[in-house]
Amino acid sequence: MTDYGGIVPEIASREHLKGLPLAVSEALAQSGIHLDEIDWFTVTNRPGLVGALLVGVSYVKALAFARGKPFTALDHIASHIYSPLIASAEGAAPPPPFPWVALVVSGGHTDLFEVRGPGDHRWLGGTLDDAAGEAFDKVGKLLSLPYPAGPTIDRAVREKATDADRTRFSFPRAQVPALSFSYSGLKTAVGLKVAELGEMDAATRLAVAASAQEAILEPLVKEARRASLQYGGRIVVTGGVACNSRLRELLPEAYFPERRHCTDNAAMVAMLSHVLHEQGRLTPSPWSTGAIPNGAMATPGCV
Ligand code: KG4
Ligand code: ZN
Repeated sequence: MTDYGGIVPEIASREHLKGLPLAVSEALAQSGIHLDEIDWFTVTNRPGLVGALLVGVSYVKALAFARGKPFTALDHIASHIYSPLIASAEGAAPPPPFPWVALVVSGGHTDLFEVRGPGDHRWLGGTLDDAAGEAFDKVGKLLSLPYPAGPTIDRAVREKATDADRTRFSFPRAQVPALSFSYSGLKTAVGLKVAELGEMDAATRLAVAASAQEAILEPLVKEARRASLQYGGRIVVTGGVACNSRLRELLPEAYFPERRHCTDNAAMVAMLSHVLHEQGRLTPSPWSTGAIPNGAMATPGCV
């Protein structure tokens, strides 16, 4: 990814083909579970790059078919929402009781949901263009940082930036309807500033990163609080950007899952599958060439 400054769909699909069998054997070895002990197979089939998704769907469907076990495909974003439940399954402190207002912030999505109970969520709003993680990655590209830039910017700002660095450049906050976000203008503004500054010393680069981070995070904090006031739920933040230490500092009242449960992981898909199964709401997908998602789990506006 570093060589191309982003994800090339064709390469990603081929990497999935190579990596998936290895990842599955490694996960089975680490957990000490044999494939025959799995009684239900679930894979994510949306949203995302169709080539990579197809590899996953075909692979998991074949595993299930070969063992005569049921198979289901679930929405990736819905899986992020319920990732806080993994903590209790692992014996750690449980997440707050429902209702929640869930903010899912990843490389491809920035969405707010009202969550009334396990598997019972409603989309409230989201980004009109770029996702927050994408904004981090695009700012990083403008500063010649390797992809994905979110963790690098987070660490550099946490370790070295001052309050003055965070406010040195005033990047725009988009004027959009309540519970919505927009980051495409920010990318343009940072690009123009970087061009204007020309050759930058380390301190200036740090201030650009710190100020851009504030511009990305501020609307997340504001809209999550607005949704929580309006819908009356504890704020729960998941997705890769939920790893961000400044976001955790700016939203002290929110619940953030452990960082390894915030970034993409298979446990969250299994968790949602388990929750729906317990409620008797999981219907096996047909053995067709498609993978029909459980209708209630589809995220509106996503393909
Ligand atoms: O949820 P995720 O692992 O994958 C997607 O579904 O997209 O999120 C990846 C995104 C990337 O854009 C990455 O730059 C961002 O999450 N990210 C962060 C941090 N860790 C990952 N952004 C800001 N601060 C972080 N610490
Ligand atoms: Zn994700």
